[in-house]
Amino acid sequence: MKAAVVTTFSDPPHYQDHPEPQATGEHELVVDVLAAGLHPRVRMQAEGSHYSSTDELPLVPGIDGVGRGPDGRLWYFLSLGATLGSMAERTLIDTRRSVVLPRHADPVTVAATLNCAIASWLALNRRITFEKGQNVMVIGATGGTGRMAVQVARLFGADQVIAVGRDAERLDAIPGADATALLSDPESIGRAGAEVDVVLDFVWGAPAAAAMTALVTGRSDPTRPLTWVELGSMAGPQASIPSAALRSSRLQIIGSGQGSLTTADMAAEVPAVAAEIVRGTFAVDATEVALQHVEQTWTRPADSSTRIVFTPGA
Ligand SMILES: NC(=O)c1ccc[n+]([C@@H]2O[C@H](COP(=O)([O-])OP(=O)(O)OC[C@H]3O[C@@H](n4cnc5c(N)ncnc54)[C@H](OP(=O)(O)O)[C@@H]3O)[C@@H](O)[C@H]2O)c1
Repeated sequence: MKAAVVTTFSDPPHYQDHPEPQATGEHELVVDVLAAGLHPRVRMQAEGSHYSSTDELPLVPGIDGVGRGPDGRLWYFLSLGATLGSMAERTLIDTRRSVVLPRHADPVTVAATLNCAIASWLALNRRITFEKGQNVMVIGATGGTGRMAVQVARLFGADQVIAVGRDAERLDAIPGADATALLSDPESIGRAGAEVDVVLDFVWGAPAAAAMTALVTGRSDPTRPLTWVELGSMAGPQASIPSAALRSSRLQIIGSGQGSLTTADMAAEVPAVAAEIVRGTFAVDATEVALQHVEQTWTRPADSSTRIVFTPGA
């Protein structure tokens, strides 16, 4: 079969022949892959730079996707292991970490949305106890996961949702946001976030540290708990947090991702997230690209306004 194959971490994947997957275990199934999203996490996997990366090569990238099983059923799946991902004509899935989708589900929409939506869904549902009526700030709100986080917070009954990012025009276009603030203007973040209860941060690095200081300084009531959930690191893997931020307010910093969440946590929430996607709850922007164009697509500058979805069968 054909697949996107990484043979060295310094090069993009090549479209080439790869051995067919074989199902051997009780819960394993070989599916024809219909759609696989090019998420930032997949780029890290292909570069060997994600914190969960091993140095095993060659590898087929892709952490999730939508495929059709031998009986015609449509599955959304979380990929298995480190070396056989979803960017192939066929892949191996474990039905315990997959969900059957309705026949009418659009594979590209599901592949573009699920990874993005489940990030904040798990954070709010599994890493903290989110209560209806709380106020949420999303940092990195113009990206795929950020736009979805705004919509997920709204779905979970947030009162105010504040979208923070680099581009004012794109922030204004985010569905479900009540207010916006620019990352380059920490004072406006402090003003907008005076009554925020939960921050979902996809950016980290220096901008997050500046935003954290501004938020803590701008609290209307410093005893009001503020939970900062670290989800991504688009602006850098490290952030310098002033000790005063932790002492002068009820700030708690936690993370949400692979490791702090188990595969079982993720698998348990997938059906509910998939149901909302199929119901049309979330607005999503996806760009479909045939898998044979993987190499050229990979080397183009990443565009956070749309999610590329590879379609191996196209
Ligand atoms: N923990 C989890 O469960 C989980 C799940 C999925 C993803 N993630 C992580 O979340 C992060 C975002 O993923 P995504 O899918 O939203 O990516 P994306 O669609 O590419 O969006 C990236 C976002 O980060 C912003 N950004 C990029 N570089 C920046 C910088 N130097 N300073 C400030 N902002 C910057 C972008 O702003 P512009 O729009 O202005 O470019 C955009 O808002 C990644 O680190 C990813 O690995 C975590």
